[in-house]
Amino acid sequence: MNGKRILLVIGGGIAAYKSCELIRLIRKAGGAVSCVLTDGGAQFVTPMTLAALSEEQVYTSLWDLKNEAEMGHIQLSREADLIVVCPATADLMAKMAAGIADDLATTLLLATDTPVMAVPAMNVRMWEHAATRRNVERLREDGVIVLHPDEGPMACGEYGEGRLPEPEAVFGEIEHLLDSNGAAQARPLAGKHAVVTAGPTHEPIDPVRYIANRSSGQQGYAIAGALARLGADVTLVSGPVSLETPRGVKRVDIETALEMEAAVDEALPADVAILVAAVADWRAESSPRKIKKGEAGGTPQLDLIENPDILAGLSRSDKRPGLLIGFAAETDKVVGYAKAKLDRKGCDWIVANDVSGPKGQSVMGGSENSVHVITADGVESWAQMPKRDVARKLAERIADALA
Ligand code: CTP
Repeated sequence: MNGKRILLVIGGGIAAYKSCELIRLIRKAGGAVSCVLTDGGAQFVTPMTLAALSEEQVYTSLWDLKNEAEMGHIQLSREADLIVVCPATADLMAKMAAGIADDLATTLLLATDTPVMAVPAMNVRMWEHAATRRNVERLREDGVIVLHPDEGPMACGEYGEGRLPEPEAVFGEIEHLLDSNGAAQARPLAGKHAVVTAGPTHEPIDPVRYIANRSSGQQGYAIAGALARLGADVTLVSGPVSLETPRGVKRVDIETALEMEAAVDEALPADVAILVAAVADWRAESSPRKIKKGEAGGTPQLDLIENPDILAGLSRSDKRPGLLIGFAAETDKVVGYAKAKLDRKGCDWIVANDVSGPKGQSVMGGSENSVHVITADGVESWAQMPKRDVARKLAERIADALA
């Protein structure tokens, strides 16, 4: 953020208070913030608060801009690396979509060629209304980055989509956009559908017991989030994990391998599928009632049935995505086994990780990963890095491959 300037347009909604925290986060990271407050926004936060947090003059009206040398609204937007509209109310987005310029905020939004990010916040019915859907679509066509609101309880007492994402999440999106040098390049996967599987599967033995593995789902969730940030429509088919759904990702929860196979099939067609899940290789013939100790006259016998190989099945199917990526968790001969898996499963890339050591060492459940990416062209070994960075790098590789 060092040396970057954000022009923050604050619309009139209860979520306006969250923009105060956003200013603090940007400043803490070394960025500068100029604030433009709409009349509506001024009902919720005061210019004094924003001036104190940003340590800059706050602009509220076209007629504040008396200084011709500043050239008012034009200059204000040109100085910024990014314009962030937060909260973007239904009314403000409607004006932006229609090109209406009747106050300082809408005038500078019309007069700018700086990338614009809108962070919507409104009542769920307003968000779902056909007019808002149309406006959001039009804004996206015009190149505005419209973030997806969060789902949850609303200030008005209703529940649904329309909550402003937490300031940390908005800040993350801003950082990502600035990192990737501008709006257009930052959404290379716009219009592409990605299917990601993640987490373990649980294979029931009886109503209370199941077979599972140590997968935490972190790597798959990070990949789903990274693809969404690059603009993809992402369907995340997830086994039982305790992770938050990444922003903008559609999550389908399953428990067993058979349910995962059906959910992946349901989610197709896709441009790319990344199967990160640690699918249980076997399932048991599940008992409808709890197996009691000693009832079989000793230890119970588990008859295991092989689960379908979702990756291999997908590669042979007529719905095969153009790019099919598998993961391989290996404890020895990592690259050798992973290469064999690439051929056997008929995928385009295999991302291999070493899970040797007790409890899968630090990889399964840990926050770092060191991977080898195996393609028809050879093997690339990436340094150990946080799973988040593996995800970002892989998403960028996918975007290049689909370009
Ligand atoms: N996979 C799958 N369906 C299965 C098993 C695995 O889709 N029933 C996928 C995983 O999501 C991963 C890849 O296949 O992308 C490799 O998974 P891994 O467990 O390493 O391979 P296995 O086929 O189980 O081979 P092995 O256990 O012999 O190493």
